[in-house]
Amino acid sequence: MNCCQCQGIEELFSESFVRDELARYRRRGPNKTTRILISALKSRGVQGLTLLDIGGGIGAIQHEMLQAGVEHATDVEASSAYLNVTREEARRRGVADRIQYEHGNFVDLASEIKPADIVTLDRVICCYDDMERLVGSSVVKARKFYGVVYPRDTWWVKVGLAIQNFFLSLGRTRYRSFVHPTKAVDALVTRNGFKQSFYRQTFVWQVVVYARPASRL
Ligand SMILES: C[S@@+](CC[C@H](N)C(=O)[O-])C[C@H]1O[C@@H](n2cnc3c(N)ncnc32)[C@H](O)[C@@H]1O
Repeated sequence: MNCCQCQGIEELFSESFVRDELARYRRRGPNKTTRILISALKSRGVQGLTLLDIGGGIGAIQHEMLQAGVEHATDVEASSAYLNVTREEARRRGVADRIQYEHGNFVDLASEIKPADIVTLDRVICCYDDMERLVGSSVVKARKFYGVVYPRDTWWVKVGLAIQNFFLSLGRTRYRSFVHPTKAVDALVTRNGFKQSFYRQTFVWQVVVYARPASRL
């Protein structure tokens, strides 16, 4: 991977950072917005479906969705630390044969990745500068549901991320976070035939599930 942000991802998500996150997940389960996304998807019925989880991190969505009846998951992950740890966790849980792992920038790999019934990007859109290419190349992979968690484009979130980026630049990390316009994300997803079927927001995040209207399935 040679994009600057992908190198930043490798720098920020170190082995110890990722192992701490896995330990937290084992103790407390998925974080609040991930739980909201999982519950919204489950309530729409996921039995027997396939999942493409882009930037799956430690794999919380994959594990919870497999438990809920999803048949097979694919995880496309830019960070090698996350990928190593999530693979290990899948083996520990006995589900490694139901998850396919791909290492790299989804935007570069998209042409090789098969479509899935459900596509999720949980706190991933904010990690990538080119929202149009990330959302554009992932939404076309979704047959039924497209679920995203990404920052609200409010002034306080923009100020918060600007401060975070400032400290990251002091630490000489190339990683940056991005607040992409909600209207632009929504327009791109709906232009691809989806309708918003679930929306919830917290102080910082918005959780959205889009569904293809039944006639288009
Ligand atoms: C903040 S973490 C979120 C991890 C997990 N989804 C969660 O919510 O706990 C962002 C993740 O997105 C991945 N990521 C960001 N841009 C990506 C891209 N273009 N292709 C693949 N993975 C990407 C990062 O490597 C990282 O694992």
